[in-house]
Formats: sequence, C-alpha cells, structure tokens
Amino acid sequence: MNSRKQYSAQPRLADSGSKPSSSAIKRRHFLKSAAVIGASGFLLPRFKLFGAEAPSNKLNVALIATGHRAQEHFEVMSHENVVAICDLNEQHLASAAKKFPKAKQYADWRLCLEQKDIDAIVCCTLDHTHAFVTNWAMNRGKHVYCEKPLVNTVEEARLIRATWLKNKDKLATQVGTQRHQFENFNRVRELIRDGAIGELQAVSAWGNRQVPRAGYLPAAGDPPKYINYDLWLGPAPFHPYNPEYFLGGCLHWNMHWDFGSGQVGDMGSHTMDLAWNAIDAGLPTSAEGTGDPFNPEVTPVKLRTRFDIPANDWRPPIQVSWHQGGAMPESPHRGIDLDKIDHGVLFKGRKGSLVADFNSRILIPRSGDKVEDDGSGYKPRPKNEQIPAMGVFQKEWINACKGNLKTSCNFGYACDMIEMMLLGLVAYRAGKKIKYDGATGQCTDCPEANQYLSHTYRKGWTLNG
Ligand SMILES: NC(=O)c1ccc[n+]([C@@H]2O[C@H](COP(=O)([O-])OP(=O)(O)OC[C@H]3O[C@@H](n4cnc5c(N)ncnc54)[C@H](O)[C@@H]3O)[C@@H](O)[C@H]2O)c1
Repeated sequence: MNSRKQYSAQPRLADSGSKPSSSAIKRRHFLKSAAVIGASGFLLPRFKLFGAEAPSNKLNVALIATGHRAQEHFEVMSHENVVAICDLNEQHLASAAKKFPKAKQYADWRLCLEQKDIDAIVCCTLDHTHAFVTNWAMNRGKHVYCEKPLVNTVEEARLIRATWLKNKDKLATQVGTQRHQFENFNRVRELIRDGAIGELQAVSAWGNRQVPRAGYLPAAGDPPKYINYDLWLGPAPFHPYNPEYFLGGCLHWNMHWDFGSGQVGDMGSHTMDLAWNAIDAGLPTSAEGTGDPFNPEVTPVKLRTRFDIPANDWRPPIQVSWHQGGAMPESPHRGIDLDKIDHGVLFKGRKGSLVADFNSRILIPRSGDKVEDDGSGYKPRPKNEQIPAMGVFQKEWINACKGNLKTSCNFGYACDMIEMMLLGLVAYRAGKKIKYDGATGQCTDCPEANQYLSHTYRKGWTLNG
C-alpha cells in the first residue's frame, strides 16, 4: 500500500469480522483435539474428521424458500445434508422434495426453525421477510445465508447487526451478493487502496434497471389452494391477491414499499457492494435523495441519493452516491459513455478516476499529472501480493460454518451498506438532506424523517422472535 497521510478513523458500528475470533480459534482447537480423540475411537463429532465431503463433515441445512432464486443454491447445497425444506407454495415444495427427498417439509418458516438438528439456513424468501427469518434463525443458533437485500428498513438493519454482533463468534453469515466472487472486485479494491487514482474523493454507483408500476395490483380472485397467501404476506399489511405477484422473480413484487425497496435493495445491493468492498466505509452522517414524485405504494424508479461518509485510517471523508432508473453520474471522460454500462461504479480521486462494472475496469489518470508508469505512480501489486480469489461464493459460507466463521459479506459488512442505502429512501421521503447519528440510529435535524426508518407489521408478527 502507498504511504499516505493518516486520517482520523470513524468508529465502525460493525466489526468486519476479518480476523478469526477467539472462539473460532478455540473451536478449531477443539476440532483438532476432537479429531485426535476421534481417531482413537472415543468421539466422532460431525465436523472436520475425514475430509470435506465425508458424511461426518456435512452441514445440516434448511432451505427456506425453494422457488426461483432458491434453486440457484440447490447444487452447492446438495453436497451438504439438506434436512429441511420450506415453501408456502406446495408445488415449489414438491419440486424441491424430488431433489431433497429426505428433507422434512414445511410451509411456515417459524415451524421449520424449531427443527433441532438444523445447523444452517439459506433464506430466499421475499425481501420483507428476510430480517424476520434471519433474526429468528440467529436467535436459535443457526448460521445464515440470506439473499439480498438483507433487510427492508433501517430499523431492521440495526436489529440484524445487533443480533449478529452478539453471535459473530459462533455463527457464519453471508448476504447473497454473489458477484462479490468476481476477481474484478479484488482488482478494484487494490487500485483504490494502492493509490491508482490518488486520494479518494467521491464514489458514485448506478443501475439502469427500470420496472415502473402504478401501485399495488388490484384484487384478482382467490389464491390457488397450493399457495398460502397469508404466509406470503407475512408481516406486511394486507394487500389483495393477484397472480401477477407470482409469475416468478422478485421484479414482480419488490418495487412495492411493503414487499421490497425497489432497485435500491435489488441491484443496489450488488452494485454498491463493488464500491463498498473498496472503501472501508461505516455509516453515513448525512443522507439526501431526489427522484420521481413520491408514490405511497411504489418505490421510485428514478432516484439519486447521496451520503457523507466519514474518514477512515487511509482516506479522507468522501461522498458516496447511488443513481438509478435514468439518474446518472457525470462521466469522468468524454470518451466514456456511462449510459452504456448497465450497472457500475465511478471512483474519483485527486489523480484520476476509475470506472468499473462487475467484471471489468477502466483507469483514467488525470491529464496534466506528472506521468510515471500509468500516470498516477501506481504500480500493480506483484501476483503474490494480490488479494486471492475467494472461489465459489456460497462455498465460502459453507466452509466458514465449518471452520473460522469468516466470510466476505458477513452481516456486519452488509448491514452498514444496506442501512446507508435505505437511509437514502428515508431522506427521499423526508424531501430534504438529513443528518444521521449512526450510534443512535436517529435523524438528528429532521425528527419527522424518523417515522420512515421502520415499518408497521401485521398483528402477530414479531421481528425479534
Ligand atoms: N442474488 C441474486 O442475484 C438474486 C437474484 C434473484 C433474486 N434474489 C433474491 O431472492 C429472493 C427471492 O426472489 P425470487 O426471485 O426467487 O422471488 P419469487 O417470488 O420468484 O420466489 C420466491 C420463492 O419463495 C417462496 N416464499 C416466499 N415467501 C416465503 C415465505 N415466507 N416462506 C416460505 N417460502 C416463501 C415462494 O413461494 C417462492 O417459491 C429475493 O429476496 C430476491 O431479492 C437474489
């Protein structure tokens, strides 16, 4: 890393979990001792005895939701013991049961989580239930892989972080931002950390997906018998059944405030991850948001949010922004048309800019700077000092559950990022720039904005169960 001036570091609410915890070390020690005892025939613990694929080394996994996105996890999970499957759609459940015939079957995830032999869960339900499933699972000592977006409100992010902080020395967590496994994420981080564009000043991420909808769908008959619609609504306020919600894929429901956060939580989770991985940021001290006129039923298609992020020990304070649905940052160079990049990130530094999408990057040294090497004085790291590839994203979590609990997108890392992104929607609803106190989770200069930090749940649903 380049030597550079020191900045006062922002205290981070969430520990990134990058160092093995003392209990993980103790656990490894235990596993090592257990292996010795096991070899002498006294004890055969389930983990770490006879190699990665041995029956004794498999995780007992529950798959919570089995349709659509969930199926992307079937192959990797089929190398573990899938002991439970859960879906409120009987047809999806029956189809998953063909793949995992030994698994117990459930419609209601709350009952599923009571199955005692479950070590770990994969949650692929709708966004508005993620915080519920995840929090209940951690409260019951289960490792959790949860699809993005991890939560639907700022309040949920703060609760999940708090539960994770209590359990991070026992549980492995990962948010389903699987693009994080692309090696470009590592190269982008190296470029930023090693000073390729000089001192970092601002970061803008954008996504151009547009799924306009006027409001909640109108009532259209009764749900079919194989769908438990009450469980589908879960903690959300009642909205009448419409089969269009069930056509397959989150783009059929995630733009509605009660079910998701639109592209903020959808592609925003993936794209801001490319930025977040490189900037070592904590919570913002301010947020602002502008975009489409407010619609109480549907999140905005066009939106621009911006945050002040405090300094850390290697960079000054920076501005981070998110642009979607046609809002775009200005290109750093007339030869680069950012509109042609669906989802990307622009890093601006004192000596140049870096434009990246998930798989590629363009470095733009600022003309007029003294030209050394590529213009910034940056020399790529030798191969042996590069950040190593993480391998298969889900496998990183599985290995973490069995070993040192270390994952790239743990709930500490992910809660900070999604809390910031959702705070952008709070500021958008408040209609002005707000100051935010990350320690208390309150908007300090705009008390009326605090009502947008949380949702009201249907009677009978408890977030911290
Ligand atoms: N990581 C990615 O690239 C990626 C891609 C697509 C979707 N996702 C995420 O995956 C999640 C699911 O999206 P999808 O496209 O599969 O949606 P979908 O509506 O097509 O499918 C959801 C599935 O979950 C089941 N389900 C819903 N609520 C449930 C509940 N409370 N209990 C049990 N089962 C429940 C449904 O019956 C269905 O089988 C979303 O959070 C979405 O953001 C992630």
